[in-house]
Amino acid sequence: MTDPDPTFQPVHRPRRLRCGSRIRDAVADVNLGVGHLVLPLFVRAGTELDKPVASMPGVSQLSPDRALEKIRRCLDLGLSKFILFGVVDPADKDAVGSAAFNDSNPVHQTLRAARAAKLDAMLIADLCFCEYTDHGHCGILDDDPEIAVDNDTTLQGLGRQAVQLAHSGADIVAPSAMMDGQVGAVRAALDAAACPQTPILSYSIKYASSLYGPFRDAGEGAPKSGDRRGYQMDYRRHREWRTELELDLAEGADMVMVKPAVAYLDILQQVREATDVPVAAYHVSGEYAMIHAAAERGWVDLKSAALETTTAIRRAGADLILTYFAEQLARWLAD
Ligand code: PBG
Ligand code: ZN
Repeated sequence: MTDPDPTFQPVHRPRRLRCGSRIRDAVADVNLGVGHLVLPLFVRAGTELDKPVASMPGVSQLSPDRALEKIRRCLDLGLSKFILFGVVDPADKDAVGSAAFNDSNPVHQTLRAARAAKLDAMLIADLCFCEYTDHGHCGILDDDPEIAVDNDTTLQGLGRQAVQLAHSGADIVAPSAMMDGQVGAVRAALDAAACPQTPILSYSIKYASSLYGPFRDAGEGAPKSGDRRGYQMDYRRHREWRTELELDLAEGADMVMVKPAVAYLDILQQVREATDVPVAAYHVSGEYAMIHAAAERGWVDLKSAALETTTAIRRAGADLILTYFAEQLARWLAD
């Protein structure tokens, strides 16, 4: 045994590439850009309405006119992709979600207004029924509470809604009800209605999650009884994502989504490796609210935590990131 050489210099010095922001920036190989971001918007009938959502700082329900103003401001920042969710008064809800089809539906109004104004924005329409049903489930109820939602009746409604959304000007429809066969039903309906070019972004891999809590405040669409575990995925199953992915691709999904994002980065990475279609990840309301709650207490720095988290989603393989931080990130990334 000889004593260690006190003058030994390691050949590998990972710190060489860490010292100084110039070298760090030069070797960073994960790029998060404004082009990856999609901002969710909650639209509600009315004018000049901007109603903050208590559990989501910086997020409001907006009337269509205010939503257009918001979209214009974002376009100036280079943020051009949005996903629209409708919010309706409890009095306008019924068991079958008729409000989805009304002319006064705020998503349709926003789409038409944005198209009339020729805004150069990519508008994705979320496609579900929970915002419009009085019971708050994602489709037409089944008699059996364990099943919760009747699959095949709901498919018809989703197809009809997709066609209307495309006609109102949605660039992409995003079915999120987690009904079996929903992508095929929506594709067939769009094709039959002469909308073969409207792409489908499927919420393919969507888990039943406690992290949707603040969204249900924002969209006022929480189930009145029961939960969504009869149709959304069980996070205790490790391999089921592949079945959902394969079915959706076979049914014609053009893009797929994993949701939530941060707690499901393992799934996101595997989905990324398993398919070449664009993969989106939804950084959901609870993931957003947790960062804000900690930042408010001074326990984490808001900007650093938001950048780190969304970059991690990108690193795991997301092409598109749906996040309530999108507008702020557009500013931060430009700094
Ligand atoms: C409804 C829908 C939900 C979200 C997006 N679409 C809620 C749910 O499934 O209960 C959640 C988004 C978020 O939490 O930010 N189909
Ligand atoms: Zn739903």
